[in-house]
Amino acid sequence: MSPEQAATQPTVAPQPPVAPIVEARDVIHHFYGKHGTVTALENFSISVRPGEVLAIVGASGCGKTTFLNMVAGFLRPSAGKILFRGEPVRGIEPLCTMIFQQYALFPWKTVRKNVEFGPQMRGVSRKERTEIADLYLKMVGLVGFENSYPSQLSGGMRQRVALCRALANEPEVMLCDEPFAALDAMTRQVMQGELLRIVDESSKTVIFITHSIDEALIISDRVAVMSARPGRIKRIMQNDLPRPRHVEVQLSDEFLKMKREIWESVEEEVFASIRRQEGT
Ligand SMILES: Nc1ncnc2c1ncn2[C@@H]1O[C@H](COP(=O)(O)OP(=O)(O)OP(=O)(O)O)[C@@H](O)[C@H]1O
Ligand SMILES: [Mg+2]
Repeated sequence: MSPEQAATQPTVAPQPPVAPIVEARDVIHHFYGKHGTVTALENFSISVRPGEVLAIVGASGCGKTTFLNMVAGFLRPSAGKILFRGEPVRGIEPLCTMIFQQYALFPWKTVRKNVEFGPQMRGVSRKERTEIADLYLKMVGLVGFENSYPSQLSGGMRQRVALCRALANEPEVMLCDEPFAALDAMTRQVMQGELLRIVDESSKTVIFITHSIDEALIISDRVAVMSARPGRIKRIMQNDLPRPRHVEVQLSDEFLKMKREIWESVEEEVFASIRRQEGT
């Protein structure tokens, strides 16, 4: 390269585009029920970047859980494609693990047995299972509660077990369906911080559904707003608020501006969804 050519070269090399880890392409999903067909998703497309925390907000019934169920492989799209690392999801995808709103723990198993369940199903040896469980129990702060049963734990602790159980599956993508919705406000804040710490430590991709715009802004790298049913992605906002997003950040003009913008985008859809339910 001549000096002239070198001088005209950009000082920062352009970054190659990063291949999405999860992608929905023009997805349509119909549910066929006794009362006719419900189109849950239509023209639904989104690309999820590896390592990002993508929050999805949208009115009740707009198809958020339907989308997560497809990524996990519990449901197939009626049309369009759901891709994981560029390949269509054809069955239950072990590298994409769901964390549900209700803890979904086995009440008859101890904390340790709940956490070891996934690795046991994968045929991991007893010794290795113990090591995996120890690692993640420590990560979520449950050391000392290994032999407790879910009924002996608080809501926050149960949700930690659920998080731990998901991590023990060693997924690449964590699919979080309003995991903290049942928790009180303070425990919820603590869990949001915990999730982010764990995600940072283990470099997971997270798709996080929430009804709370604050929660979406506190945890995410991007926020996607869905339209009322049939759900599609209406808008995506980059969230570059400084981290950690403690109270000062949550009270900043920038945070409140984004919150207002997201709310305005969601509000129309919430009303559209209510009107649909009322049949007007
Ligand atoms: N198994 C099913 N059979 C028939 N209709 C269904 C089924 N599951 C979901 N639906 C319908 O599909 C639409 C989308 O449902 P989904 O559970 O994905 O919504 P959501 O956005 O997760 O709602 P919420 O915020 O209340 O959890 C809703 O209208 C729902 O009634
Ligand atoms: Mg749902």
